[in-house]
Amino acid sequence: TQQRITVIKGDGIGPDIVDAALLILEKVGCDFAYDFADAGLVALENHGELLPQQTLDLIEKNKVTLKGPLTTPVGEGFTSINVSLRKKFQMYANVRPVLSFKGTKARYEDIDIVTVRENTEGMYSGLGQVVSDDGTEAEAKSIITRQGAERIITFAYELARREGRKKVTAVHKANILKSTSGLFLKVAREIADKYPDIESTEMIVDNACMQLVMNPHQFDVIVTTNLFGDILSDLCAGLVGGLGMAPGANIGKDCAIFEAVHGSAPDIAGKNLANPTSVILASVQMLEYLKMADKADKIRNALKEVIESGDRTTRDLGGQHGTTDFTQAVLDRL
Ligand code: NAI
Ligand code: MG
Repeated sequence: TQQRITVIKGDGIGPDIVDAALLILEKVGCDFAYDFADAGLVALENHGELLPQQTLDLIEKNKVTLKGPLTTPVGEGFTSINVSLRKKFQMYANVRPVLSFKGTKARYEDIDIVTVRENTEGMYSGLGQVVSDDGTEAEAKSIITRQGAERIITFAYELARREGRKKVTAVHKANILKSTSGLFLKVAREIADKYPDIESTEMIVDNACMQLVMNPHQFDVIVTTNLFGDILSDLCAGLVGGLGMAPGANIGKDCAIFEAVHGSAPDIAGKNLANPTSVILASVQMLEYLKMADKADKIRNALKEVIESGDRTTRDLGGQHGTTDFTQAVLDRL
């Protein structure tokens, strides 16, 4: 039967880069049926809410979603749409690979790191958010559960095995956050013992930031809690040429949403300047999830050829072209 996919084009640069990915999927012969759904500011305008029920229904029904970035209005009592989606569908793993292509403005070559970020707990649990009546004190609850830590750390080791990776680094701050990060680290050590075929290391998060900048080649798979994973994965994107290069997959037991790591980039929205590589690589992750590895490889190789030859690349990559020219260059290779 034909695979149906829910597509959320999103806000800002979202529609431009998602359209690019759809053209490329079609070009490699993917015969998907698409259900388009609104979320974010577009949905607020069209339906009066950021995350309409019909969108949630489509995500649940098709189980696979390709999504552009969404703008969450700041400080107007809206909870983040992305955080809501991840919690609602229990997409507990956020898989964010970064891979070097030559020809970007990146400082390094041969970077190949996957950050596996816990996606539903930690500082982003959304619980216990209180500001005192006089506005002088604020608090929020950070929650780590044994079950949550076990499933994300196991996920990271299973990914390492499946992809033939050699090393898993658990990143934490157990020296200060003794209860939460402490539990995460304890579980990481237990699970490490079950995977003797994979090298296990651990690192405190601030040191991990420095090590990633100074000596990134020591990293292979990083597994960490929600907030650290959010920050480290942007840092990793910076190692390979910026946010335009970084895809992410939110994976749960039943549903998966594939998206860019970055946001709606209001500073370049509507200007045909965005690098669509992030969402194109997210669609590559989607094809791998759907066990269509040959098509995934074709797209990744075409991207590599375009970026490495500098053929019609976008400005963030040092080129002088727009989203549509870049996309055409990839289509031409395919
Ligand atoms: P951002 O990620 O949108 O942009 C940060 C910087 O990276 C900007 O200078 C932008 O121009 C650049 N950039 C991002 N994607 C690019 C691309 N594909 N090509 C070239 N340059 C690119 O972060 P910002 O500005 O902090 O957030 C903007 C909005 O996005 C906020 O409303 C935020 O809530 C939302 N957001 C949504 C996310 C999602 O839907 N997954 C994730 C992160 C932020
Ligand atoms: Mg982020």
